[in-house]
Amino acid sequence: MATNAPLPKNHMVNSFFGVRDRSAFTSAIQSAINEIASGGVFAGDNLFTFGRNLSFLHDSAFMEAFERHVDNPIEKATIWRIYLLSWAARRALTLNVPGDFVECACYRGTSARILSDYLDFGASGRNYYLYDLFEHDETNAHLRLEAHSSSLYEQVQQRFADLDNVHVTRGKVPEILHEVSPEKIAFMHIDLNNAEAEMGALKLLFDRMSPGAALVLDDYGWLAYRQQKFAEDPFFEALGYQVLELPTGQGLIIK
Ligand SMILES: C[S@@+](CC[C@H](N)C(=O)[O-])C[C@H]1O[C@@H](n2cnc3c(N)ncnc32)[C@H](O)[C@@H]1O
Repeated sequence: MATNAPLPKNHMVNSFFGVRDRSAFTSAIQSAINEIASGGVFAGDNLFTFGRNLSFLHDSAFMEAFERHVDNPIEKATIWRIYLLSWAARRALTLNVPGDFVECACYRGTSARILSDYLDFGASGRNYYLYDLFEHDETNAHLRLEAHSSSLYEQVQQRFADLDNVHVTRGKVPEILHEVSPEKIAFMHIDLNNAEAEMGALKLLFDRMSPGAALVLDDYGWLAYRQQKFAEDPFFEALGYQVLELPTGQGLIIK
């Protein structure tokens, strides 16, 4: 029996989507937390759990990278999602799954930057391909996010300026993938908030994923994006796969 097991930690960030009365919701969560004897509380990102190990909070390399690069409550609340990504990307390196890393789309590059530090990606001998439109106009199907702007592309390039093997590409998925994309993929993160664009990326890139490569679909379990699930399920079923819906709202496939 482990005698030096770490004490339970909590991770609580008041960031929840789809709440009607934020103040009533927050007090209800706080009242529930007050009744928890065990610790190990996670609250945020539409997840509320307790009595959990929350292993990521005890992974010091991960926590250092996370704290270095996360700078707002919405990102802070997604720690479990980012740890899931870290696990999926890390296994590609430790299990020698052939190929490069892909993220459609990267937005501010936060999760990719955390993964890059955590995995010492600069020394990995692989390439990491990041895509995004970086801007928003009314013709775009996706939501406008706070950081979208005409300078976001340069900001994200700067964020990875110390890593020659991370390639930040501005363009529309899937069209841009015909110009820049790897032949073999060891890890892929798809997070486009848009069913048509996600299906376009999957139709082109899923075939290029190596056996054993992990695919994370960020929006798969979220009701607000269920059109993506409805489009993706038949695609994967036809290939003999079933997406695992995770409590974080992500979907996971190991090829
Ligand atoms: C939720 S954000 C991605 C967050 C990022 N994966 C992370 O972990 O921090 C979704 C992004 O998808 C981008 N996007 C949506 N449709 C796109 C398309 N067809 N091509 C390229 N980027 C797209 C948006 O510009 C937005 O920045």
